[in-house]
Amino acid sequence: MTSTPYGIGLAGCGTVGTGVIRALQRNGELIRQRCGGSIEMSVKRILVRDRDKPRHETVDASLITTDWQTLVDDPTVHIVVELIGGTGLAFDIVARALSLRKPVVTGNKALLAERGAELFALSKQHNTPIHFEAAVAGGIPIIKTVQEAFIGNRIKAMCGIINGTSNYILQRMSEAKLDFATALREAQDLGYAESDPTLDVNGWDAAHKAILLATLAYGFPISPALVHVAGIEQVKPIDIDFAQQLGYVVKLLAVIRQHDDESIELRLQPSFVSKHHILASVNGVFNAVAVHGDGVGESLFYGRGAGEDPTASAVVADLVEAARSLAHKLPHRGFLPWGKEGRLLPIEETRTAYYVRFDVTDRPGVVAEIATVLAQHRIGISGTHSPVNPENPDAEFVDMVFLLHSCPFGLLQQALREIAALNCVNSEPVVFRIEQI
Ligand code: NAP
Ligand code: HSE
Repeated sequence: MTSTPYGIGLAGCGTVGTGVIRALQRNGELIRQRCGGSIEMSVKRILVRDRDKPRHETVDASLITTDWQTLVDDPTVHIVVELIGGTGLAFDIVARALSLRKPVVTGNKALLAERGAELFALSKQHNTPIHFEAAVAGGIPIIKTVQEAFIGNRIKAMCGIINGTSNYILQRMSEAKLDFATALREAQDLGYAESDPTLDVNGWDAAHKAILLATLAYGFPISPALVHVAGIEQVKPIDIDFAQQLGYVVKLLAVIRQHDDESIELRLQPSFVSKHHILASVNGVFNAVAVHGDGVGESLFYGRGAGEDPTASAVVADLVEAARSLAHKLPHRGFLPWGKEGRLLPIEETRTAYYVRFDVTDRPGVVAEIATVLAQHRIGISGTHSPVNPENPDAEFVDMVFLLHSCPFGLLQQALREIAALNCVNSEPVVFRIEQI
């Protein structure tokens, strides 16, 4: 059988872009055979920022350009892969490719969560798909699962660990007792972190992914401005130790849940998860997403959530799908919102139990002062603790933690505003959810 050659324009040759080149070289022939010999793909152009940067030996230097339009407009390029990140130039590349009716493959969750509405409108206008499996949970095929395998299910909930960098940092802080900065550096060296790791540690990388999952599951666009996000930068060793003593582990958790009135709860924050829950054993760069569909019930997807090879695996799968669609003139699928109006549940109305850490002046009566405010708001206390710092037992300022019964988050926020104004409290309280999942 004669095969149809498809040219790839690879915008970005960093961690993931290099992985894609290597994966195509390693398994290109296997892919061709699996496609019945009908499809052949080769990289025609590679966009980078710095032409002089050393590249992996498999990268053909003659294909490199620093001019993005040369890449997108090249007539030998049939499919454009966007792996540069960010929401500026990446947008221009994707928009231009769509306008030329060249299918796009991207791993850029920030771009799709922030500017997806514009891009999917262009995708529809030009009847040209955007494939984005690599944008959520690295190598785990969760996008295809929600879009295809579970198309006959109403999704009741999705809950998971969807940032490999944060999960890696939390584990290294917990097990190797590394400080935050050292653990982050390791994650960067391993190629897990974003080029700007702020998005990993402040929760926004995971929030972008959660927005994409919720948008797919519930069919309406979700504005990032309405999503409550907290990252792991406030997690201290005391929190990890205290969680362990109580039978929990600290995880950066995405919670997406449909309520009986069909409103959607969507939040992202460090959470205490029971050590007996399956998500508690998801460690290092691994991600896991638990999906509850009304037909399928509970299901769990687990795998590497970041890094060169797992992410390239997802990109290559999308490339094959894009090439097959071109070869067989299949209709555009991509993201098809079905126009449903949806409503996000205001964060103030979400309910869980809480772990709250206060930085207080160590003097008699502090517990009572905080407990009084909580009682005035009818928030129950299930425990309180103020560990002595063995290195400084006479410290003037100490951490004091409270475990609180389930209550609406808005009520907790009101109480914490009053508590933060007390003389004995020295900084903003730190809040983690205690999840019943
Ligand atoms: P990266 O290692 O920082 O690579 C980015 C690449 O884009 C580099 O080759 C860089 O050129 C090029 N680039 C950046 N800005 C450019 C510009 N203005 N003009 C031309 N080229 C530019 O990033 P990455 O980790 O591969 O991630 C790429 C995308 O995949 C991001 O959207 C990220 O969120 C997503 N993703 C990453 C992972 C992961 O595990 N790393 C997983 C899933 C999704 P130089 O090489 O010359 O610097
Ligand atoms: N920085 C991201 C993470 C890459 O650590 O999960 C995968 O999207």
